[in-house]
Amino acid sequence: MTILADYLKQYSSNTAVNDVICTIAEVGKTINKLLQRGAFADILGEAGNQNVQGEDQKKLDVIANNLLLDALTQCTHCAGVASEELDDATPANQSGNLLVLFDPLDGSSNIDINMAVGTIFSILPYQRSGSPITNTDFLQNGEKQLAAGYLVYGPATMMAVTTGNGVAMFGYDPDKDAYLLIKDHVQIDADTKEYAINGSNYRHWQQPMQQYIDEVIAGKSGTRGKDFNTRWVAAMVGDVHRILCRGGVFMYPFDNKDPKKAGKLRLMYEANPMALLIEQAGGAATDATHRILTIEPNDIHQRVPVVLGSKNEVAYVQQLHESALKI
Ligand code: F6P
Repeated sequence: MTILADYLKQYSSNTAVNDVICTIAEVGKTINKLLQRGAFADILGEAGNQNVQGEDQKKLDVIANNLLLDALTQCTHCAGVASEELDDATPANQSGNLLVLFDPLDGSSNIDINMAVGTIFSILPYQRSGSPITNTDFLQNGEKQLAAGYLVYGPATMMAVTTGNGVAMFGYDPDKDAYLLIKDHVQIDADTKEYAINGSNYRHWQQPMQQYIDEVIAGKSGTRGKDFNTRWVAAMVGDVHRILCRGGVFMYPFDNKDPKKAGKLRLMYEANPMALLIEQAGGAATDATHRILTIEPNDIHQRVPVVLGSKNEVAYVQQLHESALKI
């Protein structure tokens, strides 16, 4: 069976990128162990602080963040890191030529209920190797990503990764203490009957998103002429993993609940890496009108609406938004 490092050697000639991916995968083993022990590892509950987003941090948010920070700042190729849990970017090795962004523990409301959570990462080139990093160095659009991926800690721990040559999925085998290739060249069907959205926000959405949900709920008796199914993991990694496995569309759209937030998800360490994986698997990822990977960031913690997954369904959601804009 192919192990992660051997797969990377085969598909990516950038040994620095491969090294960073393997470093993150090693940290994933530790997070996996902590999650397996749960309450006995004293990882459940609140940390008692808020992050830069004003969100309450869970104990495991802080632990996972520190584990990744320690490992990546020691990695010779990594010039700096940016995390959901840290206000500013943290310098690592000035001679490094890579920048790493991560959401250390995605879906943290799932930690205390023993449901799936994950780690999302994005790797960007560092153009000023030799000089100290600043937040501005990270402000590159998603097309510049050299690699992206996630770990999903579910019933089994799995990793999906792309270095721009398709998507591969690995399973963590605790008996062998290794990530083993499960599926290569992952492809998402263009059509789907499954959608994921937090419907409790319906009243805050714009008209095109409300229309889309009205249509899929109407199912066979409505304009779509087919029945749909809802799924919502409440951890983006879980929903994206399902979409990579069997198609579907995931949406966290623009809503007017809080006028200061364009959406809930963060562009640079959630939407961009997931968009690269989804596109590499033949799907599409937009903010409802623009391709996510072309959005020019102005802040490392910037938020963005997200519609991603099966190509034809994403195009349909986009078409509804574009028609509404033309009126
Ligand atoms: O990071 C944000 C996140 O936890 C995503 O992983 C997930 O898709 C979403 O928020 C869940 O949002 P809600 O709390 O509205 O269900």
